Amino acid sequence: MDVLVTRRLPGGALERLALACALDIWGQNYPMPRDELIRRIKGKEGLLCLLGDSVDAAVMDAAGRLRIIANYAVGYDNIDIPAATARGIVVTNTPGVLTDATADLAWALIFASVRRIVQAHTFLRETAWQGWDPNLMLGYDITGATLGIIGAGRIGTAVALRSRGFNMPVLYAGSTANTLIETELNARRVELGTLLSFSDIISLHVPLTPENRHLIGRRELGLMKPTAVLINTARGALIDEDALVEALRTRRIAGAGLDVYENEPRVHPGLKELDNVVTLPHIGSATHTTRSKMADMAADNILAFLRGDEPPNRVA
Ligand code: DGY
Repeated sequence: MDVLVTRRLPGGALERLALACALDIWGQNYPMPRDELIRRIKGKEGLLCLLGDSVDAAVMDAAGRLRIIANYAVGYDNIDIPAATARGIVVTNTPGVLTDATADLAWALIFASVRRIVQAHTFLRETAWQGWDPNLMLGYDITGATLGIIGAGRIGTAVALRSRGFNMPVLYAGSTANTLIETELNARRVELGTLLSFSDIISLHVPLTPENRHLIGRRELGLMKPTAVLINTARGALIDEDALVEALRTRRIAGAGLDVYENEPRVHPGLKELDNVVTLPHIGSATHTTRSKMADMAADNILAFLRGDEPPNRVA
């Protein structure tokens, strides 16, 4: 089987895949341009792609005989699933292996935002520090703060469970009850509006779908406490970035910690200017082990398909 791979991946997964398939690998460390993708996909039966590759009907039709798309990510909003299904193309993702790394990074953003770590670091390096000051870089308490989890799936649950030790009341909003965090943390399932109004730290963990695009907009930001912070390690388009910039600029909310953006790799200029937002370049899953496991999973999905087995992480 001929497989197009849109980036070199960490670990030995591609070497393993190359034993069974003919690989055409994009060797650059920037995204494959759209016209190159359209050109190189022609005749390929497999595609191993990244979350930044937009795989729509035009790409599928350009391939002609595409049979499987293995996304190197758990989120697959970059793939037009109805178009794939209509063409009989199997789609897979990489769930589970990145849960802990992403939950850890959400907590890094919580600490960085609530305790102003990046601002304090920059201050120390770029100004003449006069010494200990009772009013310098005051943030908010994490211990005892109310944690609001929007989307209590794998990653949302892992973020919630990490609040153990910080004595935090936990609220969550989700389509189904999560008995694990209800039992372990006494977490309460509430409506989104209630969560936004009562939480001090709000962390997003829902997949991006057409229904929840701009789930957090001006109205929702208006419900948040002025002392609250918003954390996003899921997908940028869950938040209306214009509304977020306005809320941060006017101190309608205290801060934000973001790993993801509405139009990656473009970052809203307002987010780069403000000092009450911590901005990371989509590194939630960026550990050596996690990224190798993701590569193994994507390769294993293609190999299973090739053997005629059901790919273990099929989403469509
Ligand atoms: C994913 O997998 O969807 C993350 O955003 C990147 O690891």
